This record gives sequence, C-alpha cells and structure tokens, in this order.
Amino acid sequence: MKNLKNWDNKTWLASERYIKSFCTFVKTKKKLNKNTKILDIGCGRANIMSRLQKTFKFKTKPTGIDVVRHRDVKKNIRFIKCDAIKFLKKGEKFDLIIIKQVIHLLSKKDRIILLNLCRSSLVNKGRLLIFSLKTKGNQIPVFKSFKKKLKISLKKDDKIFTNIKKVLKRINISYFNFKVNLKKTSYIKMIKNRYISCLLKMTDKQIYEGVEEISLKYKNQIKFIDSLICIAFTK
Ligand SMILES: C[S@@+](CC[C@H](N)C(=O)[O-])C[C@H]1O[C@@H](n2cnc3c(N)ncnc32)[C@H](O)[C@@H]1O
Repeated sequence: MKNLKNWDNKTWLASERYIKSFCTFVKTKKKLNKNTKILDIGCGRANIMSRLQKTFKFKTKPTGIDVVRHRDVKKNIRFIKCDAIKFLKKGEKFDLIIIKQVIHLLSKKDRIILLNLCRSSLVNKGRLLIFSLKTKGNQIPVFKSFKKKLKISLKKDDKIFTNIKKVLKRINISYFNFKVNLKKTSYIKMIKNRYISCLLKMTDKQIYEGVEEISLKYKNQIKFIDSLICIAFTK
C-alpha cells in the first residue's frame, strides 16, 4: 500500500487544539507521571508524544516509532524509524502503548503478532490504547466514491475490532470526540493531498470529481465531529 503522508499535513489532526484535546483524553485513560514510559506505534510526526513530554517531563523520553521518517518529526522524543513488529521483538517494556490510526494498515497476520507483542511489552498494569475511526455514525465529509470506499473500509474496521477483542480478550471501549470546524477550501486541499487511506488509490479524475461535489455540497465552513473509538487493554 502507498504510504500515507498527508493525514496531518496542515489538517485539524495537527492543530494545537486537537493535540491538546487528545492528550487530555489519554490522561483520562492512563494516569501519567514523570516515571511513565510511553511508546507510540506509527507516531507520524510525534506531536502527541511531544506534547505529553512537554507536560510531564518524563525521566525516559517517550519513544515514537514509524516506518516512515516524516518531515518535522518532533525533537523532544526518541524517534526510531522501524517497523512496529521488529521494534517490539526487542523486548523493551512500557507503561503505556498507543496505536493511533495505524492498526487498519496492517495485515491480519501482522496485526495479531503486533497485539500479542504489545501485550508482552507492557509492564504489569500497563495499558494499551488503540484508536481508530469510529465505524458507526461517522461524520467525515465525503463525496460519492469516497463514501463507498469509506463504507467498505469501516466494515473491515469492524472486523478488525472483533479480531482485537478475540486476541486481547478483556477490553474496554470509549470514544474520543473532537469538534472540527474548518474552511471548505482547507478540506478540499486535504482531499487533493489524499489525507485518508480511502483516497490513496483513487484516480486523479475521481479526486477532481470529488472536489467538485464537496464544493457544491458544503457551505464555506465545514463542521463535524471527528470520532475515534478507543480500545483499551490493561495487563
Ligand atoms: C494515519 S498515520 C497516523 C499517525 C499518528 N499515529 C497520528 O494519529 O497522527 C499512520 C502512520 O502509521 C505508520 N505505520 C504504518 N505501518 C506501520 C508499521 N508496521 N510500523 C510502524 N509504523 C507504521 C505510517 O507510516 C504512518 O505514519
């Protein structure tokens, strides 16, 4: 699969407000203090780890791993360019492991390996938090062919969640909701940048037609709730 590079390129996902709100949510899921050791799998630019590090000044810098070294990866964390499975096999232990909007990019076989490795990489009472797009009542602004692909993708995600439950057994479900309010022109840029995996394989024509559709369908300001499911596992 083509690499996803633009999911947070000047989008709400990289905004101060989003990162702050997301970190506040994480704090409700796991008590953090300066001794907490954190791993973010598929960390991207490591905005979340960086923000948590600024707040808590952890004794051990949070670790962010990603197969891609994106531009502007935050400097105040330990970044390792590595595949998640390869990294976890080294046996390092963490109090908190975050996997945000990454799990759907793995094959079923790799996902099972990854989940088992995450479990064994947690200290006793450690927490694993898996975030993914909410599948029911998702409000992401779409155009026709995008809607079709998103529907298929969210159906697959539902199967992935069932599979995660099978592997991890005791899980707890909650939701992270973020109010998005952005200019239509900004959202159109995101579509042109193929910000979500559903858009990666679309033809230029499909994207062009989608942009036309969005232009007609939405007012100048687009408002919706970006919702993520949070699957939590405690060792
Ligand atoms: C949609 S982005 C999400 C990034 C970040 N977690 C966030 O929510 O802002 C998915 C990220 O997962 C990374 N990724 C995909 N497969 C991976 C793997 N097997 N090991 C480590 N990172 C991976 C991609 O390179 C990309 O940076």
